[in-house]
Amino acid sequence: MCGIIGYAGSGNAVPIIVEGLKKLEYRGYDSAGIAIRGAAGFEVVKQKGRLAALEGRIKDSPLKGSLGIGHTRWATHGEPSDVNSHPHLGSGSRIAVVHNGIIENYKQLKERLERRGIVFASQTDSEVIAQLAEYYYDGNLLDTVIKTANALEGSYALGIMCLEEPDTLVAVKKDNPLIVGVSDTGNFIASDIPAILEHTNKVYYLNDKEIAVITEKDVRFFNMDKEPFGKELETITWSVDSAEKGGFAHFMLKEIMEQPKVVKETINSANIELPDISQFNKLVITACGSAYNAGVVSKYVFERLCRLPSIEVELASEFRYKDAVVDDKTLVILISQSGETADTIAAMREAKNKGAVTLSIVNVVGSTIAKEADHTIYTAAGPEIAVATTKAFSTQLIVLYMLAIKFAARLNRLSPEGEAELLAEIATLPGKIAEILESVDFIQKYASECVGYKSIFFIGRNIDYAIALEGSLKLKEISYIHSEAYAGGELKHGTISLVEENTLVVTISCCKRLHSKILSNAEQVISRGAKVLLVANTNEVESTDKLSQIRLPEIHELFSPSLSVVVLQLFSYYVAANKGLDIDKPRNLAKSVTVE
Ligand code: F6R
Repeated sequence: MCGIIGYAGSGNAVPIIVEGLKKLEYRGYDSAGIAIRGAAGFEVVKQKGRLAALEGRIKDSPLKGSLGIGHTRWATHGEPSDVNSHPHLGSGSRIAVVHNGIIENYKQLKERLERRGIVFASQTDSEVIAQLAEYYYDGNLLDTVIKTANALEGSYALGIMCLEEPDTLVAVKKDNPLIVGVSDTGNFIASDIPAILEHTNKVYYLNDKEIAVITEKDVRFFNMDKEPFGKELETITWSVDSAEKGGFAHFMLKEIMEQPKVVKETINSANIELPDISQFNKLVITACGSAYNAGVVSKYVFERLCRLPSIEVELASEFRYKDAVVDDKTLVILISQSGETADTIAAMREAKNKGAVTLSIVNVVGSTIAKEADHTIYTAAGPEIAVATTKAFSTQLIVLYMLAIKFAARLNRLSPEGEAELLAEIATLPGKIAEILESVDFIQKYASECVGYKSIFFIGRNIDYAIALEGSLKLKEISYIHSEAYAGGELKHGTISLVEENTLVVTISCCKRLHSKILSNAEQVISRGAKVLLVANTNEVESTDKLSQIRLPEIHELFSPSLSVVVLQLFSYYVAANKGLDIDKPRNLAKSVTVE
């Protein structure tokens, strides 16, 4: 939620910040703004709407300066508007702040400052940071940031500039990501690597309550007691191209097409030291959104292969508040692309407080979940820019399959031959995904005829039901068509009353032993006027004017979601593309949900 960037260097900060914001726009896109330390003070341009609108404003009144901060917003407190956009200034225009996060005690702080005569311009929680810092400022920005951060409750990643210290940018974070990049021509702060990758691949990952004091020439780190300390500089191996569209119409399509490569890389890299599964009697998998759906898929795999007495999948937003029954005999698996999802972080901390061992599956290196979990396995998806996840989801599945196989082997539920056979089957996935991606014409054409549906259901049984959840989520988030996923056997218990002429039921059938069952569900909806798109690994069925089908390559049932999901992703993508929607940035959403 929200992206921030800052620059202190020898070049003009304006294009560097604007280009960086373009790479961060996936984090929020309802307004954007920039503040530059100009010759006479701060020059600020803020604009409701997409970044392009801000760019237009900057063209009209050019800015220039070598120190600046920028922000792209996903509104939490205060509607999207020019005045609520960041950067925020203190009322004396001596402090400028960009903020990602939520200040929970902003009302109390605001009231305190208002009682002292300070007048607020916006409805945001973030403005209180600028006003408070300006109120506290006593000639030293570092001291001021320490004092200000100590007064804040909630989450924040902050970039702060001060009129009196024209060469300095100070950054601090708590529970929201922030990196510091270094280069020969200047130094940076950013919410995420792609924002600065064009300028440097050398970064520091800030930890909570660490402060970075940044000038053109150096970066220094301090703790909240103002003690200096050193940090390890890390080298990012992503190429600049990996964060560019590379000729594709959308990042989402590019990322779908990258799946054979990243799945292969994840298979080859997911080699880590695992906790000894035999010490646990319970497995809990928790995550949000698509990552949760990956968890639901994996429950079928863990159950089938490991036969543990208790395996649960929980939405992280529910797990964190339910006083979960977990203890030191529980392994809690957290799944998160960003590693920064607020509910998943809270679930992890709750599990740890209760003594459980935590294992995270994360894509973003150095993120909060990756760092705080007892064990972390990275997915090798590379930067995922489209808000709707595709390649990260696919790599999460791979790690989960491989974990289940390793655990099953450790529990003696799988022989060495059985383990080798399953791993060999997984190794065929990149090729089979590539096969699906080579023949998208039918899906594209079929999807182009689906834009008029009011409602599209996804059904499946067992693991096919789990992937139906993901197909449905993908469709609704980018096409805005109402959609729900149901276990095939559940239809007749209520949902079938919604099925009528203008309904499409996408039916997934990759579990051979349940094929006839799900097909009879398809028959039931067809006889009530619905059309069916059958996504299956069988050709036993004849297509009719009511039933169309997409044939998937053969694969072990447990790994079939990795193939069916690719069809479902493409289907959603082409439906949304045919509706002319903003696929990479669907309305009301943001890529990483760092607020509750
Ligand atoms: C859907 C989607 C979201 C995320 C969810 C969790 O396409 O991308 O549902 O899966 O917000 O995000 P992470 O994986 O970053 O924890």
